[in-house]
Amino acid sequence: MSGPVSAGKSDHWGSRFGFIMAAVGSSVGLGNLWRFPFTAGENGGSAFIVIYLISVLLFGLPVLMAEYALGRHGQRSAIATLRKITADENKPKAWIGMGWLGAIASLLLFSFYIVISGWVFDYIPQSFSGAFSAFSTEAEILNANIGQAVSAINSQISTVDLSAACAFVNDGVITRIPEMVNGQEVLRDITVGDVSGCRFAETTGNKLEIFIYTAVFLGLNVLVLARGVHGGIERAAEILMPAFFIMLLGIVVYACITGDMGAAANFLLTPDFSKVSFNTVLAAVGQAFFSLSVGSCVMFTYGAYLTRDTSIPKNACLVAGADTFVALIAGFAIFPIVFAFGLNEAGGPGLLFVTLPIAFGQLPTFVGAIFFTLALFAAFTSAISLLEVGVSWLEDQRSIGRVKGAIGLGCVMLLFATAYIFRGDLIDQADFLSGTVMLPLGGALIGVFAGWVVPKRILENELGTGTHLNIVLFLLRFVIPIFITLILISGIYAKFAG
Ligand code: PHE
Repeated sequence: MSGPVSAGKSDHWGSRFGFIMAAVGSSVGLGNLWRFPFTAGENGGSAFIVIYLISVLLFGLPVLMAEYALGRHGQRSAIATLRKITADENKPKAWIGMGWLGAIASLLLFSFYIVISGWVFDYIPQSFSGAFSAFSTEAEILNANIGQAVSAINSQISTVDLSAACAFVNDGVITRIPEMVNGQEVLRDITVGDVSGCRFAETTGNKLEIFIYTAVFLGLNVLVLARGVHGGIERAAEILMPAFFIMLLGIVVYACITGDMGAAANFLLTPDFSKVSFNTVLAAVGQAFFSLSVGSCVMFTYGAYLTRDTSIPKNACLVAGADTFVALIAGFAIFPIVFAFGLNEAGGPGLLFVTLPIAFGQLPTFVGAIFFTLALFAAFTSAISLLEVGVSWLEDQRSIGRVKGAIGLGCVMLLFATAYIFRGDLIDQADFLSGTVMLPLGGALIGVFAGWVVPKRILENELGTGTHLNIVLFLLRFVIPIFITLILISGIYAKFAG
């Protein structure tokens, strides 16, 4: 693992605003809009959210600061920075392995992240075509025709492909939906939520279409990364992120007016700790790391482009604050709709794609289209940060230029993505491994490295001295390694022990 210590980075963020947009852009993404709501839903809502907020504060934020600090100190890609620090300070070379773990986690995350982005992409033209507004009429038509053959009513419905594997079609005949109520099976009518769910299944089932959207999304990532940090990443984030924030607020206002805000607030804000298991805690910690983009050395890489006059503690708080705000807002946009339409809050990865279209179906078509466009923007600024870890490493260590590096890595990632398109269940596994296991593990290692291995003067130099440094050091040294190790072991055990 030893190798030459490369020269420092010459490209830097052009302005503080540009850095903040790029850093917030990396943090705010599908983690907030897609992963947070469904993970919260699967883990009982409010108690999960309380643990999540504690995890952001105690684990995520200090690791974020440590990553920026070490990145700026090293001025190189994550692996090269670790190589430099271990060489300069005469520390065990094995720590370079932490950079490898981060790079593998980032690329693994990236490989399925682009597929989910492909789903988001696919929903943009669907919104424009007005498909969502037909959902309620279609539910009515289906209910009126229960017992009929699908083929007989196919001409009456415009969008739902009933040959898709939807629960309300059995052997080509439309049926009521079986549901368990108090341990007894009852049959219920088809709802607008079922139609929306069917639409989602049909979308992800159209493999060629998803492949094309994923490939285009990936191609745009490669294009921006090839243009460099200031001219590519920063420029893209400066345009995309402000647009994203404005639209998000609009969606929340709409949800407040039309959704079941009471039920959502109850679900999100009244913690029921009896539902908490080790599994819940691990999910919340993993989500905190995923959402803040920490634990995978992405922020090492972004820190390397930081100029010396930027205050790391202040900016880290700003990034973490903005990210948490967007996650909570996404919860408040999605759960009122979940409860108003009687959908299952533990609906899993499809939650975003099933709930929001129902709401958008009642609004002018451009609203849904704009929302999914902005979700795509947020996903985009996160995805580029994940791929940048690899591109930056190839540039530093292998002297492969950004253009070649981005294209080469992009091709490899497309192969992985194709596997997920055909085997959707692999996404859950890759997500668990990278998001829930590798990121917290990386975070614990960064805690030990920054807290115990790196000389204190380096952190003092980057973070400044004072009470805040003592608190951060205490968390990095004791709280993070001990708690995360315990949480990881018990969480993984609880998951596999059932
Ligand atoms: N934080 C990003 C999101 O919320 C995902 C991500 C994770 C990006 C880790 C970089 C590193 O979508």
